[in-house]
Amino acid sequence: MKLNIAQNEQKISQLVADEIENLIKRKPDAVLGLATGSTPIPVYQELIRRHQAGRIDFSQVRTFNLDEYYGLDRSHDQSYYQFMQTHLFSHINIQEDNIHIPSGQPADVEAYCREYEAEMERAGGVDLQLLGIGHNGHIGFNEPAKELHPGTHLVRLKPTTIEANARFFTSIEQVPTQAITMGMQNILKAKRILLLATGRDKAEIIHKLIHTGITTDIPASFLKLHDNVGIFVDEEAGSLVASCATS
Ligand code: F6R
Repeated sequence: MKLNIAQNEQKISQLVADEIENLIKRKPDAVLGLATGSTPIPVYQELIRRHQAGRIDFSQVRTFNLDEYYGLDRSHDQSYYQFMQTHLFSHINIQEDNIHIPSGQPADVEAYCREYEAEMERAGGVDLQLLGIGHNGHIGFNEPAKELHPGTHLVRLKPTTIEANARFFTSIEQVPTQAITMGMQNILKAKRILLLATGRDKAEIIHKLIHTGITTDIPASFLKLHDNVGIFVDEEAGSLVASCATS
């Protein structure tokens, strides 16, 4: 894992958008693994700017999102499908058929999860996976637990995750308690992984991630098994980490 401490989220979004732009120039039908949440929003804004400036053509790009709330229809304003439309897809020239976001209402969860993975395989696997990190170290919705799941699966969200996500709903009772998420093996299969963290409230988990070994208590620590991971944090999220800054 290579840690990059950038000055602020704007700088991170430029560095990450540079990687994505270079990848798409090299491979116009690149497969991107995408995340929702607050952290990647500035990256998406930067990608939209570059698309509007004629620098990035998304017409052949394929995307697979990490997760979706279980029980929400994709038309629900807090579904991750709507999040991606609002923050990225409706502003770029991506083809609807090339967008993959887990369904929040599959008829047969198990069969649906296997098919989602098969679709990723048929696409040739994820070239570049964007990740945020939960305060508890989750990636996707792989929550700390005694055992982690390799494949795409239905997961019960931790109370702390439900609390953290309540800010987007009218009340905490409205937050779904389960989600469909890519599993650890799905994530670790990506050829390149970029984990982003911004803000003082992520400083503790970034410190733990860097300074502890591999443990299911911090699912993100499994990224240490992958040899092509970049961690991008701003000065606040990196404030407790001994410096190995590059920018
Ligand atoms: C979102 C996801 C989550 C978030 C994490 C951080 O698709 O998979 O793991 O990346 O909860 O969320 P934010 O960025 O809102 O702090």
